[in-house]
Amino acid sequence: MEEIKRRVAEAAAEQVKDGMTVGLGTGSTAYWAIRKLGERVKEGLNVKAIATSSRSESLAVEFGIPLVTFAETDVLDVTIDGADEVDPALNLIKGGGGALLREKIVAAASRRFVVVVDDTKRVDRLGAFPLPVEVVTFGAEATKRALESLGCASRFRMADKCEYVTDNGNFILDCDFGLIREPEPLAQAINAIPGVVDNGLFANMAHVVMVGCGDGSIVVME
Ligand code: A5P
Repeated sequence: MEEIKRRVAEAAAEQVKDGMTVGLGTGSTAYWAIRKLGERVKEGLNVKAIATSSRSESLAVEFGIPLVTFAETDVLDVTIDGADEVDPALNLIKGGGGALLREKIVAAASRRFVVVVDDTKRVDRLGAFPLPVEVVTFGAEATKRALESLGCASRFRMADKCEYVTDNGNFILDCDFGLIREPEPLAQAINAIPGVVDNGLFANMAHVVMVGCGDGSIVVME
């Protein structure tokens, strides 16, 4: 599996061109793209990057990729990131790694959003993977009840017996909505709840999904 992730992520990183500003995703697949980009920087590629998590920021520093902030750049040329589920219309569930908010901000600011996954992430309909929703800590129980009124069962993501805290100081509620018929209206309904910061449904955001397959091939969905 690691080899499949590496191959597809490196193929995406190979598409980055000199002078680009690149969004660095988060997770075990994005890791390989960041690593490859670092190798290319050492070989002379001139890029700047914005990371979608403190973990990916540390990797960028470790691999020698120059970082910038949104104070210095408004549009990114390309972002390469993983996903937890991908449907045939390129809608995604993201946030399994807890970085959904920064991932969505960075993807939304990108001219091209390239998603790299292995073929276990492809589904006919989103929703088997519980949808991560980032909520502010104040009133989180009330926000949980309001979310459940939309028709899900939810639980706080935990880390070492405490609630998991995101890079932004918020909690994550993992929400089981069952199979999701209409991602975009659901995403809007969730985000309309006071206390919700954002959710892991990325509807109509991906420009291309590169799928690494067990036989070594890469399927490109766009
Ligand atoms: C991080 O918050 C996520 O959105 C990841 O992109 C997603 O969970 C995929 O991660 P893996 O590549 O580790 O499966």
